[in-house]
Amino acid sequence: MIRIQRISMDHPLYEQEVALRTSVLLKPLGMTIEDYYNMAPGREEKCDHFVAVIDHPTGDKVVGAATLFPPQPDSDETSGKVQQMCVDPQRQGEGIGTNLMIAMEVRAFTELALPGLYCHAQISAMPFYEKLGWEVGSDTFQEAGIDHKRMQIVTPQPSETSK
Ligand SMILES: CC(C)(COP(=O)(O)OP(=O)(O)OC[C@H]1O[C@@H](n2cnc3c(N)ncnc32)[C@H](O)[C@@H]1OP(=O)(O)O)[C@@H](O)C(=O)NCCC(=O)NCCS
Repeated sequence: MIRIQRISMDHPLYEQEVALRTSVLLKPLGMTIEDYYNMAPGREEKCDHFVAVIDHPTGDKVVGAATLFPPQPDSDETSGKVQQMCVDPQRQGEGIGTNLMIAMEVRAFTELALPGLYCHAQISAMPFYEKLGWEVGSDTFQEAGIDHKRMQIVTPQPSETSK
């Protein structure tokens, strides 16, 4: 049984969130979590943190993670940014990433009332976002030495029939 939880940085599962992000996303780029923090000081604290958790004989185990950076008052960007989306390699392809994204979309579109979400997607992960209805929003650009594109989705509007 997998559950999606929104946690704070002082939650006991935050350490596992960081360990997963490090092994799946940062280490392959030659980065540590400190390098990541230093890229945008203070940003980690401003994010909502989502984890996918399974029951394990040794206790709760984090098998997926992502963060949601809300729009900032001093920025022209009005959409929230999905960052650090990752799933344990042994559990990929089971719908965990999809469930993490659904939880973040609910948070962004209903609780935070944001007009949309975007991310900087690695080219290899673009099909994941496209299957969730996200659209390409930029040309290819380099970030951390690899090709990315902006992917985005706008808040679903009530259909004409449901008005
Ligand atoms: C990308 C990632 C988060 C997706 O999580 P996941 O739990 O494996 O995804 P899901 O099981 O919910 O997949 C949903 C759909 O997207 C597809 N998909 C997922 N990752 C994909 C990828 N990298 N390439 C192509 N298709 C992918 C799945 O096949 C599935 O398609 P289906 O509905 O037709 O079966 C995960 O594979 C991952 O951690 N990859 C490595 C890190 C990474 O690339 N993160 C994104 C950085 S932008």
